[in-house]
Amino acid sequence: MRSILLAGIAGLVFLMSVGLETGPAAESESVKNNEGVRARIAADYIYAVIEAGRMAYSRYIVDRFNQDGTFKVTENWKAEKGLLLPAQFLKLSSSETNSKGIGMRYRLSSVWPLNTDNLPRSETEKSGLLEVLRNPDEPFTWIVQKNGLWYYQAIYPDKAVSQTCVECHNQHPASPKRDFKIGDVMGGIVIDLPLGSRFRKKPDESIALPPEVVADYVHAVLESDRTVYANHVVQHLENGELLKTSGPVKTGPQLMLPAQFLKKVSQIAARKSIGLEMNLLSLWPINPQNAPSNEFERDALEWVSIHPVRPFVRWTRAGNVRYFNAVYPDYAISTACVECHNQHPTSPRNDFKLNDVMGGLRVSFPVK
Ligand code: HEC
Ligand code: HEC
Repeated sequence: MRSILLAGIAGLVFLMSVGLETGPAAESESVKNNEGVRARIAADYIYAVIEAGRMAYSRYIVDRFNQDGTFKVTENWKAEKGLLLPAQFLKLSSSETNSKGIGMRYRLSSVWPLNTDNLPRSETEKSGLLEVLRNPDEPFTWIVQKNGLWYYQAIYPDKAVSQTCVECHNQHPASPKRDFKIGDVMGGIVIDLPLGSRFRKKPDESIALPPEVVADYVHAVLESDRTVYANHVVQHLENGELLKTSGPVKTGPQLMLPAQFLKKVSQIAARKSIGLEMNLLSLWPINPQNAPSNEFERDALEWVSIHPVRPFVRWTRAGNVRYFNAVYPDYAISTACVECHNQHPTSPRNDFKLNDVMGGLRVSFPVK
């Protein structure tokens, strides 16, 4: 949390320097080079992780356990001891991220929602949703002022990719629309990036965000997905027996571990080929594939284990492209982390204590 705050302050200073039109700050290097991540690219990264989280959950948990009937997938997952719906997964994960107070917020929204809580929250959001209905191949982005603060807002269309989306929504007693067809836009994922209040005039679309802030956002979504998965899927099913093994994901009546889920989300997001890469690493890995693969990763992991309040940050270069890299400490937040790792037969370390840094989460992307 502290690390997020620190990077947030750096971001604020950066935005102040971008926003001022006169004065020494306007002449600073970072403004001249317009260094940073364009808001649209930042939103694409965030969306890629949100989408990957929902997809990992749908594909590797819902589809799988629905087919073999091990667990029931139901809107009343709490009472019925079942698995939550993908929309509910996304919603819990967004509440988790939004509650961190890091600035960026996101949510599912629709003009025909099953849950009125998902109605657009402003006129601009409503027009944006209508706009992605008309033009579903692109996210709709704009800059808007709310309560004196400028926001970059991006709305990514949410399409009925399968017959199950259509059937459930059309038949649901609370649905205000009953003629969805496959391929229709059913709603959108709305991402809000706060820009600041000090602009004299409306900032334009080329506005950039500091890379460390973008990395914080990506990291926050990934963390939230893992938390929701750990607390509302794994723990909720109260089936400790299933969690004792660590074999491959697809065999046996076995739930994926939170670390494996996080890896899946990272892999799916990376497949989008937008440059974003994420890895869970450790100097003491249960799975040797999670060991650092170069000097930077080794340095970073050591650094976060002795300076655990902030991510380790470094620029690297490949050819003409500069990459921003941040490695966030991954703490033993519960005794479950400690016990399982200390007892695991392939764990090279068995003296972890609560709150120890057990590894790190690397977030990397190119910055032009
Ligand atoms: C088994 C039923 C079911 C299926 C299948 C389903 N949904 Fe939903 N969906 C819901 C429920 C229930 C909510 C409301 C969740 C909440 O916010 O409480 C919801 C919410 C949503 C929302 C937010 C607006 C609203 O309606 O409240 C969107 C957009 C959405 N779903 C799209 C989809 C898409 C796209 C698919 C297929 C990939 C899908 N849904 C599959 C039941 C379903
Ligand atoms: C029930 C056992 C279990 C629990 C509980 C557990 N882990 Fe793991 N963890 C694993 C396994 C198994 C892997 C290797 C996954 C893979 O195949 O990549 C792993 C991987 C990791 C890695 C990557 C490095 C490595 O060891 O391969 C980190 C970091 C990590 N876990 C941290 C945590 C944290 C933090 C918690 C608590 C929030 C936690 N783990 C809870 C079993 C567990």
